[in-house]
Amino acid sequence: MSGKSLLVVDDESMFLDLVEQCVEDDFESVVKASSIEEAKDKLMERMFDAILVDIDLSDGNGAEIIKYIKDWKPCDNDGTPIIVMSGLINEQFEKKFKDKFAGILAKPFKPGDLQAKLLIALGKTKRRKAADLNLTSDKPTVSAERPLVEEKTQSKAPDKKIQIKFQEEEISLDIFDPEVNAPFKIENLGKRVDSILKKKIQQNTKLKELFKKITVNRDDPYMMNHIGLLINITTGISKQMDWGSEQTLEKFILASYLHDISLGDNTKLAKINSKKEIEDATDLSTEEKKLVELHSLASKTLIENKREIPQDVHTIIEQHHELPNGRGFPNGIDHKRITPLSSIFIVSHLLADYIISDPNWSADKFVMKYKTLQKGPHFRKVLSV
Ligand SMILES: [Fe+2]
Ligand SMILES: [Fe+2]
Repeated sequence: MSGKSLLVVDDESMFLDLVEQCVEDDFESVVKASSIEEAKDKLMERMFDAILVDIDLSDGNGAEIIKYIKDWKPCDNDGTPIIVMSGLINEQFEKKFKDKFAGILAKPFKPGDLQAKLLIALGKTKRRKAADLNLTSDKPTVSAERPLVEEKTQSKAPDKKIQIKFQEEEISLDIFDPEVNAPFKIENLGKRVDSILKKKIQQNTKLKELFKKITVNRDDPYMMNHIGLLINITTGISKQMDWGSEQTLEKFILASYLHDISLGDNTKLAKINSKKEIEDATDLSTEEKKLVELHSLASKTLIENKREIPQDVHTIIEQHHELPNGRGFPNGIDHKRITPLSSIFIVSHLLADYIISDPNWSADKFVMKYKTLQKGPHFRKVLSV
């Protein structure tokens, strides 16, 4: 992300330095301002790619800076994504302002949370500038283009269509048939997935917008198989471990659909499964590598504050590329900190990709290939299924 500039406004100089350190790989220039007046001066000097404003400043309320940007449009900064931060953010605040800003960050936060918010904010800048990287795709989703009728198509991976009615409008979702090429034979899995999704989304209309962001390229067999296989394998493994409750199935369904939501339909990026693969990839730009590295956090950020989504799903999404040997990303945590549900999802994700890449796959070959994953009780148990 070289060439990018960030304005950060906070009255604590230590905090300004901390933010600078956190984002130095992503932003070529980080301009710091410690007061409202200083921030206004900086905004008059240049256009920024993102702005991070603390609300609780010692010389007033950070909202004054935001109002200044909107009213006076200094250097066209009125279109720049703004992330607000504060130690006093509560649910009410988030509810009221979440659509007004590119991000809301409660202090204290982890460096990864800041990076993920900025990544999403930069995605919004790109969308404005019609750039090519598809962080939050503006392209119409496949479902939006297709008729709202139940149908079977001739595509390689047969898919089903369900209709979900909302108050005034109807949207349709592509439901990947979880039994296609699937290693586990589970009775009525497709029907159960349909009914859980219908119920979940019908009850919680806020989820509608989220599911609309799932972008699927129908011609891409990877895309068409990945989610369905994930649902099949996570469910199959958890059943065999006697964790096959409806709640667990629901968590895995949501995680399967939403874990890569920040990548849009970029299959090339979605296929990368380890830190080493990111480092070794010669066909990826620095920006794409950064996007891959942070997409788990960015996807989690996109679903946060949705109370309808269980906390376990947030954790699965955040950890879906971690590895038990600590060589995963973005946090490089090892099996001791990866939760049991995440362990199932991680192994299922690797197996799903393995099945897609090798039509002659076998469970033994998979276990051999990933024998370094046999670390810690959860992973050992999952791999023994
Ligand atoms: Fe991913
Ligand atoms: Fe994935």
